[in-house]
Amino acid sequence: MYAPAWDNEFARDVRAGLTRTEQKTLPCSYLYDDVGSALFEAITFLPEYGLTRADARIIQAHAGELIEGLPGNLVVAELGSGSGAKTRAILEALHPRQTLVYYPIDVSAAALAKCQLELSSLGAVVPLRTSYLDGMRQVAERRAPGETLLVLFLGSTIGNFDPEGAIDFLYHVRLCLQEGDALLLGTDMVKPVDQLMTAYDDPAGVTAAFNLNLLARINRELDADFDLRQFEHAVRYNTDEQRIEMHLRSRLYQIVSIRRADLIVDFAPNETICTEACHKFRSEQICRMARVAGFHLEAQWIDEEWAFAENLLVAR
Ligand code: AVJ
Repeated sequence: MYAPAWDNEFARDVRAGLTRTEQKTLPCSYLYDDVGSALFEAITFLPEYGLTRADARIIQAHAGELIEGLPGNLVVAELGSGSGAKTRAILEALHPRQTLVYYPIDVSAAALAKCQLELSSLGAVVPLRTSYLDGMRQVAERRAPGETLLVLFLGSTIGNFDPEGAIDFLYHVRLCLQEGDALLLGTDMVKPVDQLMTAYDDPAGVTAAFNLNLLARINRELDADFDLRQFEHAVRYNTDEQRIEMHLRSRLYQIVSIRRADLIVDFAPNETICTEACHKFRSEQICRMARVAGFHLEAQWIDEEWAFAENLLVAR
C-alpha cells in the first residue's frame, strides 16, 4: 500500500506549521528531544531565568502546609515529570504519614527513568509513558476507595496553551478527578517586560541554542537542510495576548527542503517561525480559570523574588 514519505506525526505537524500562509509555526512540544531537554535544563540554571527556582522555593517552603489540608490517603500524579527535584519535597512531606504511590506521566522515556532513579527510595514510582490526559485516565482507573488524588502540573507548562486551551485542558483533567481531589498548578505571573525579555533571550545564548535546536532536530529526523546560521532567535512580548513568543527569524531569502515531510518551503527576509508561546498570568485570571474548569482556588502562594504562583485547586 502507498504510504507518503511524511506519514509520521512529526512530519505532518512540521508540514502543517510551515505551509501556513500567515504566521509559520511549529508546535513547542518538539523543542524537547534529548538535546532540547538538556538545553532546557541548562536554562533553569541561568540567573536570568528565575522561574524554575521560584517554583522549587515555593514548594520547598509550603509542602507541609499543602499536604495537611488534603484528607485521606494521597496518591500523587505528575503531568510532565521533569527531573523530579520539585516533587521530592512533596513526597518527603508525605512520607511520614503514609505509604507512597507516585505516577509520573511523560512522553519522554529518559525523563521517566531519571525521575524513577531520583524518587524510588521514597515509595512506589509507577511511570506512565503517555500523553497527559491518557495518563490521567489510567491513574483514575487505578484508584482505590478512600484515596485522594493530588495532581502536579508545575513549571508554568499551562502557559503554553492559549487561554481557552488551558481551560479546556484543566476541564479534561477535572473529568478524571472526584470532588475533593487536588491539582497543584504552577503559573508564571505577569512581570516587567525587560525581565521577561532577558529571561527568554539570555546573553549567553542558551535559550537561542534551545530554540535553534528545533531546526537541527528537523534536519536530523526529517532529512532537511536548514542552515542554522541563517536563522536567529527572536523574542517578543505580546502585550495584548499577555505572552512571550519565541520565534526563529530568517536572515535572508532562502529555500529549505524537508525531504521526509515531502516539502520545499521558502522564507522571506525577516520572516519568522513561531516556536513557543508562554502566557503569563494575573491572580484573578487563575481564579477564573480554576472555577470555569470545575475547581476552586483553595490556596495561592507567590514567590517574593520572582513573580511566580503555586495554586492549589480543589475539585468541586
Ligand atoms: C517549560 C514551557 C515552562 O515557558 O518558560 C523556557 C519553556 N522556553 N525558555 C517557559 C522555555 C524558553 C518554559 N516552559
